Amino acid sequence: MDGILFETERLYFRALQKEDLDEIMEIWGDEEVMAWSGGAGTREQEERSLSFYQTMQKERGFSPYLVFLKDTDEAVGVCGFNPPVESFDAELLYHFKKRHWGKGYATESVLGVTQYAKDVLHFRSIISSADPKNKASQKVLEKAGYRYIGMKWYEDLSKEEPTYVWESDKTV
Ligand SMILES: CC(C)(COP(=O)(O)OP(=O)(O)OC[C@H]1O[C@@H](n2cnc3c(N)ncnc32)[C@H](O)[C@@H]1OP(=O)(O)O)[C@@H](O)C(=O)NCCC(=O)NCCS
Repeated sequence: MDGILFETERLYFRALQKEDLDEIMEIWGDEEVMAWSGGAGTREQEERSLSFYQTMQKERGFSPYLVFLKDTDEAVGVCGFNPPVESFDAELLYHFKKRHWGKGYATESVLGVTQYAKDVLHFRSIISSADPKNKASQKVLEKAGYRYIGMKWYEDLSKEEPTYVWESDKTV
């Protein structure tokens, strides 16, 4: 596979491309996947997201990555980074196709992208949050070594969410 940026035991990661729109619609265009993250996007919205993230990758050197199974080359989800928030180097995001939930891919991905952020991007801190009812997502952050810092208000979501941070002096 071309364009692989890094890998973990079972997964490959590469930057998003224009051609990924069909795959992205199975993730960001899926109501169930996006239930806790502001709802599904339309094809037009996700086309704009892809373009935004391609530019971000070019200009900042990081973005959300498409996650592939090494075994089958199938895209299973997205995991990576949104632009900096407050004093944090980036915000972590992760969304996986429903049929691939419960196999440990999110935890493996968050560990993988965080290691990459530390070793290659030289990030010092990353922030992430989840809907209070999204227990699986909070579990992923805890298992990947992110530290709970309390409830935080998000203006764009109009709600408080349990918030977690990773800092580079902590081992991932
Ligand atoms: C949340 C999500 C990323 C988890 O992905 P995943 O690959 O299934 O996660 P993992 O298998 O690595 O780990 C999930 C953990 O949560 C646990 N879990 C799952 N559902 C749970 C629930 N309702 N309550 C508590 N724990 C739960 C699992 O048992 C597992 O922990 P374990 O390994 O100790 O058993 C996935 O469900 C998803 O994409 N959801 C939609 C998008 C989303 O919510 N993204 C996060 C936005 S903040």
